[in-house]
Amino acid sequence: MIINGKNPLSGEIKVSGAKNSAVALIPTAVLAKTKTVIYNVPEISDIEYLIQIMEMLNCKIEHKDETLYIDSSNLINKPIPEELSVQMRASYYYMGALLAKFHRVEISFPGGCNIGARPIYIHIKGFEELGAKVEIIKNRYIITAEKLVGKKIYFDFPSVGATINVMLAAMGAEGTTVIENAAMEPEIVNVASFLMNMGAKIRGAGTKKIEIEGNNNLDNGIIEVFPDRIEAGTYVIIGALLGSPLKINGVIKEHIEALLMKLKEIGVEYTLVKDSVIVNKCENIKPTNIKTLVFPGFPTDLQQPMTTLLTQAQGKSIVEETLYENRFQNTYDLNNMGALTSIISMSKLEIDGPRVLKGKNVIARDLRGGASLLIAGLIAEGVTKIDNCEVILRGYGDVVNKLNSAGAKIEIIE
Ligand code: EPU
Repeated sequence: MIINGKNPLSGEIKVSGAKNSAVALIPTAVLAKTKTVIYNVPEISDIEYLIQIMEMLNCKIEHKDETLYIDSSNLINKPIPEELSVQMRASYYYMGALLAKFHRVEISFPGGCNIGARPIYIHIKGFEELGAKVEIIKNRYIITAEKLVGKKIYFDFPSVGATINVMLAAMGAEGTTVIENAAMEPEIVNVASFLMNMGAKIRGAGTKKIEIEGNNNLDNGIIEVFPDRIEAGTYVIIGALLGSPLKINGVIKEHIEALLMKLKEIGVEYTLVKDSVIVNKCENIKPTNIKTLVFPGFPTDLQQPMTTLLTQAQGKSIVEETLYENRFQNTYDLNNMGALTSIISMSKLEIDGPRVLKGKNVIARDLRGGASLLIAGLIAEGVTKIDNCEVILRGYGDVVNKLNSAGAKIEIIE
């Protein structure tokens, strides 16, 4: 990805459907007896791999514009091989979904960005509590259950993936499952709405306690993917650096409140109009401290984009990453471009600003780190070249066209 920096951005950018909702909604569709429709599906590579898995399981898929029409009438249960499972993190949602449907699932380990250890023992413990047996053979999970029985399950940590996965598995259980200390991210509400639309009874999605009644009669689900709160937040951050002004459309403000409050605190001016955020370049960004937390706290997925913003603040900021052990990889390249950041402990980064950034050759090592370099390239003097930019395209659909239509100069060369 080649970026010519320092172009002011104006006009409008529309936020796409949320990657982390869509990647859970597609596996959820296998729970329907016949047909489901998912609207507002983002144009990102993870979706293509999930469709390949659906087709392997004998589902018929029609992908028209941003809508997926799924027919799971002839669904079969097959092991999900490594070449598909490893393409993304979200392949693990087939564990819960197929376990509910067939009481057996065989799947190779999931993939995803290399941002830390990312264990899934909370998912596994949840399946076991419902009565499943989980074996690991080489690099495969084999999960079986004679029957699944609903139970009260307490999560050690409010994991997004485990909350969705156990909610899916609980659909195949007799009786009621209660998840305590569940994650509250909007993605969970999106998946629960889809299941309820198919006939499920779920109470409390979006709170710390979710009650799910088992139901193997789900069908005819229709759902719209929520707007992507991380994509929205990334464009708002870009607006704070280059907006003249930049209008970001299709935003659920409550989903990015932690970011909006932080931006207000550091002097960024924006206006909220209906589902849009209009943001102007901030000439005098104040330094601040940020700690990533589960929703509704400051999202880890916006930590790296925010780090680039803070390289332009008037003084020292501290960013504390509490979710992942390895989410500062972008800072090597930011420093190479002229930023002054230092990792002061395993989870803390100090950023000394303001610094003039200069275009350099850099590498996107993970999705949000790649976004942080893209933002750096947009504000840098000269030309920035980002290698391995495919990882950025995993989370930001049509990013080049969206930004270029607002005045950026970006191209992707093969
Ligand atoms: N964790 C455990 N044990 C578990 C599960 C999670 O220790 O069994 C820990 C993880 O190691 C991690 C933390 O809990 O430190 C967060 O994990 P969580 O399960 O909540 O996240 P996830 O389901 O793996 C999703 C998104 C991530 C996003 C997180 C947090 C998907 C496919 N991924 O991951 O998205 O960072 O929630 O909001 O939905 C991204 O989009 O760039 C991305 C990494």
